[in-house]
Amino acid sequence: MSRIAVIGCGYVGAVSAACFAHLGHEVECVDTDPERVALLDAGRSPIHEPGLDELLRTGVAAGRLSFRSTYPDRFAARIVFIAVNTPESQEGAADIRAVRDAVTAVAARLQPGSIIVNKSTVPIGTGDLVVGMARRSGQCPFAVVSNPEFLREGSAISDFMNPDRIVLGSDDRVAIDRVADLYGPLEAHVQRVDIRTAEMIKYASNAFLATKISFINEIAAICEALGADVAEVARGMGMDSRIGHQFLSAGLGWGGSCFPKDVKALAHMAAVHGAHPQLLRSVMEINRDQQFRALQKVREAVGVLDDARVAILGASFKANTDDIRNSPALALASLLQLEGARVTVYDPVVQARRVQDAVPGVAVAASVLEAARDAEAVVLATDWLEFQLLDWQAVARVVARPVVIDARNALEPRTLAAAGFEYRCIGRPGNKQRPAPAALEQLEVSA
Ligand code: UDX
Repeated sequence: MSRIAVIGCGYVGAVSAACFAHLGHEVECVDTDPERVALLDAGRSPIHEPGLDELLRTGVAAGRLSFRSTYPDRFAARIVFIAVNTPESQEGAADIRAVRDAVTAVAARLQPGSIIVNKSTVPIGTGDLVVGMARRSGQCPFAVVSNPEFLREGSAISDFMNPDRIVLGSDDRVAIDRVADLYGPLEAHVQRVDIRTAEMIKYASNAFLATKISFINEIAAICEALGADVAEVARGMGMDSRIGHQFLSAGLGWGGSCFPKDVKALAHMAAVHGAHPQLLRSVMEINRDQQFRALQKVREAVGVLDDARVAILGASFKANTDDIRNSPALALASLLQLEGARVTVYDPVVQARRVQDAVPGVAVAASVLEAARDAEAVVLATDWLEFQLLDWQAVARVVARPVVIDARNALEPRTLAAAGFEYRCIGRPGNKQRPAPAALEQLEVSA
């Protein structure tokens, strides 16, 4: 078992550190935020991530996991992971200042023969830049390995423990082997590539997944226009092993801390290097349109949005997380407010204050029934299981008008109909009438 260090205890750093400790390694973590460090050191997770609290507690109790807010004079660990954030800059590029600062601080404290492993999502070429920093600094020489992460929020622990692949990028084969050994107990497939390719695999993977979702969202719009059912279309497509079932759920579009930032950054990188990222641009545009399409559905259902009471179920960007970064649910709440609607949001885990900071003027309810009281439309914006298991008869008793817009296609239409709701969803019949014969004739002509 090895000694490792992790710089940055956000979502990627905290999960990776806790999981490495669980695998038996001794992990020392550094984060500049003392409050976060105090929480983590007490074995408590600063983010809502199923299973993380327990791993932190056991790791700290076993003495394999420790946290500090200042750098040690010298790292005892010979392998140091960088997992600091790379926020979006004004131009849409990833801002790597935190990575540079971390590398500078770490490089001055390394022992000979150490490895810096980059887990932050960084523009292609950053690894080479770090290699250059190492050469120029004249400090203790170290190897550089790129090791992108593919963890999903809400299932990050199980994603770490059961990876589809571990990607390691470096020109230093020995360094790659030493990092691969850390993951040995997982018996995962390790792909060894150069640094730039490793960095690109991360961006291309996220961009492809976002593309898959935007694709099915575009198909959903076409299904709606022509009277097909996008859920069945996706099921039929997914059975083709070349396509697969995942990331084909039509809905309110993708959000979160990764897809929006990474697709934008990849498009930016492509553009500044003379490639024309037309597909990526369309993928982003379709995603934005999805929120307008949901807005239009609410408008169609209630008639006039001005002064209409609308309940939004879910604030996070997806279920099982309290992350509201780039949340399509809150984007829709904002759009509705701009149209004059009176919006009340309910979320099972996101604190009211955070919702109100993100969407000033929005009301926040402590329960679904409180949010739905007197509402003229209830919008399911995040597919929490809690909403799928709701007593919709009880919801029907408190609303002003029985209208549900299921912006995640997560509900069973028959359940809603039985509770007396007018039900609208994304790209499934029942949503709208079948297409007018004229539309079908047009289709025949164009075929
Ligand atoms: C993603 C990647 O999956 C992960 O590999 C990477 O490391 C970080 O970014 P995450 O942001 O946690 O993970 O969320 P993910 O589960 O991938 O969902 C992203 C968004 O797509 C969410 O807003 C989700 O609601 C949406 N989505 C997902 C759909 O709209 N339809 C789908 O079929 C799947």
